[in-house]
Amino acid sequence: MTTSTEQFQHMLDNLASHPINSSTLFDGDTKLRLLRSAVLDLFAVSQVMLSQLEALLRQMDVQSTQSARLMETRSEGANQISHNVPRIALDEVLENVPALLQHAERHMLFSMILGLRPRWVVEVGTHQGGSALIMVMAMNQVNFGNVVCIDPAPIIKPETWELLKSRTILIEGFTPDAFAEAHQIAGNYFDFAFIDGDHTTTGVICDIEGVLPYLQDGAYLLFHDAFNVEVQAGIDQSVAEHPNSLIDCGMITRGKTGPDTQGAWWAGLRLLRYATDK
Ligand SMILES: C[S@@+](CC[C@H](N)C(=O)[O-])C[C@H]1O[C@@H](n2cnc3c(N)ncnc32)[C@H](O)[C@@H]1O
Repeated sequence: MTTSTEQFQHMLDNLASHPINSSTLFDGDTKLRLLRSAVLDLFAVSQVMLSQLEALLRQMDVQSTQSARLMETRSEGANQISHNVPRIALDEVLENVPALLQHAERHMLFSMILGLRPRWVVEVGTHQGGSALIMVMAMNQVNFGNVVCIDPAPIIKPETWELLKSRTILIEGFTPDAFAEAHQIAGNYFDFAFIDGDHTTTGVICDIEGVLPYLQDGAYLLFHDAFNVEVQAGIDQSVAEHPNSLIDCGMITRGKTGPDTQGAWWAGLRLLRYATDK
């Protein structure tokens, strides 16, 4: 079977052996017949080429369908793999943790621990252990990290402590004094501080001054209730006091609650970064 290319070449050879030019075009029957047969040949060849092109396109179509199916199969495989990894129903679990945090704050705290992977966290103000539990759950996801919790009067239920205990050390005491003990027990500088204890301006300043000597370079300081004017003033004053080592990243959540009976507003997470050449 001759291919369209061979047919086309044959036609060109035929024409080359009987050259046609404008002066000879209408000279005689031979030339006219040759021209007519050349046009017919050309038409026939183009038909063959067209059908071959169609066949090629069909083949490409099949191939692209096959590759699309392959991609689908691969992504199904990828989904299967990720489904095999135990995942927690995060939204629901976070909502049920006994924390005094808004829903978005719970997600933010969990994500920061998950993403930043601090080795040692110090928490000021543990109460029922809710915020600590959120951090521990994130640490469990990456199998990394520990928390030293400081509170003079924690009220942690046994079932909550069961979930906390593998990664948590609890100090029943007041900051800023308890920071030295926390550092000693951890045997490390802290790379993350969650501060949610004394909400007065003086209390916040004392916590910041007290924790700085025990922070690693690049550590994060996360404050809760930063929409409260007292807390806000404490943070602002400390940032102004340490312009070279405290970087103010500002509020990182928007929701606030209040005003309460005294006209005070609460909630809100604010982040600082500690940078020093210590
Ligand atoms: C708002 S609660 C903490 C809530 C907790 N972070 C949570 O979201 O689950 C404040 C806690 O700070 C504690 N606290 C107050 N002053 C403190 C201080 N100087 N040092 C450590 N904890 C303090 C209180 O006992 C109280 O349990």
